[in-house]
Amino acid sequence: MRLWNFSAGPATIPLAVLEQVRAELPDWHGVGCGVMEMSHRGKIYTGIYEKIVADLRQLMDIPEDYAILFLQGGATLQFSQIPMNLLDGGSADYLTTGAWSEKAVKAGQRLYGDSIREAGTSADASFTRLVDPASMRLNPKAKYLHFCSNETIGGVEVFDLKQLGGAVQAGVPLIADMSSNILSRPINVRDYGMVYAGAQKNIGPAGVTLVIIRKDLLGKATTAIPALLDYAEEEKNTSMLNTPPTFAIYMAGLVFEWLLKQGGLPAIAQQNQAKAELLYKTIDGSGGFYANPVALDCRSWMNVPFTLKDKALDPIFLEESEKAGLLALKGHKLVGGMRASIYNAMPLAGVQALVGFMNDFMHRYG
Ligand SMILES: Cc1ncc(COP(=O)(O)O)c(C=O)c1O
Repeated sequence: MRLWNFSAGPATIPLAVLEQVRAELPDWHGVGCGVMEMSHRGKIYTGIYEKIVADLRQLMDIPEDYAILFLQGGATLQFSQIPMNLLDGGSADYLTTGAWSEKAVKAGQRLYGDSIREAGTSADASFTRLVDPASMRLNPKAKYLHFCSNETIGGVEVFDLKQLGGAVQAGVPLIADMSSNILSRPINVRDYGMVYAGAQKNIGPAGVTLVIIRKDLLGKATTAIPALLDYAEEEKNTSMLNTPPTFAIYMAGLVFEWLLKQGGLPAIAQQNQAKAELLYKTIDGSGGFYANPVALDCRSWMNVPFTLKDKALDPIFLEESEKAGLLALKGHKLVGGMRASIYNAMPLAGVQALVGFMNDFMHRYG
């Protein structure tokens, strides 16, 4: 029996997609074998891949002057690969709003030291808000500005680039780690030099990393780096310099088709907003029994961390919620308490079940 799964990632996948995968697993569309058994260079897989790229272009309205790459190594490898490809002998600015953007800074500094500049941080607020624009120390000549559009652990999301204040500078490409909110609502890809995301939240199974990059930013790698890590080489070779994770990419394609059937990103955004509002309303209306520390203008629609007034109740909440069919609500150890990840594939009914349980728990223990 499938239960409501609030895992932060790998995360729940639409049931319709899983059922389609099950049906197509041994024999894809009557060709006599499954997708994971066919050559990535053969005609059939090439056709599947071209449709996946076309569907993603349509979903996110990605212009032709942006390359779409399906890479490996997770979003974590991007933390190193981005400066390898784009630092171009200069320096880059980073905004730190939580654990993930902090990791990006550290990974970059490991390779390039002070050329990776922390231009602003919300560490002083324990990462419960975005960076105060007045505190930013920006370099107008930065090769790029990196930020995380949704901090999966802290539950802090950027909804509008205006929230980045002066960090949005003409001539400085924006690079966003969208691992945990890509495809959750429409964005204007043209506002960015590059966006990237690990797949295992809103795209599909783990094992593939999506990179969308403006083509004029390709070919700037100045230091000798492996071809496999060079965006320009991957673009020239249709992300097939080596054997790609074909099955994960195929499943991502089924998720894209599912999203298009839902009405695309405007439709899924409405659902995501309704789900998040219901959950935050429950937390805020609990008279302090539950609490979420994040500033109102950047409360994530995807990851909702919350604490219980009495920490001693945490293990009881977790045990009882699991018995009630609500999985993976334990919060990340950095912030403690609980976290409900409510990505695209979590229906409103799942969030309704969660708030029903939360209200009942509060009445019994409050
Ligand atoms: C915002 C964000 N960035 C980066 C990562 C790292 O992704 P990966 O494990 O695919 O390397 C995660 C993983 O959860 C994430 O949530």
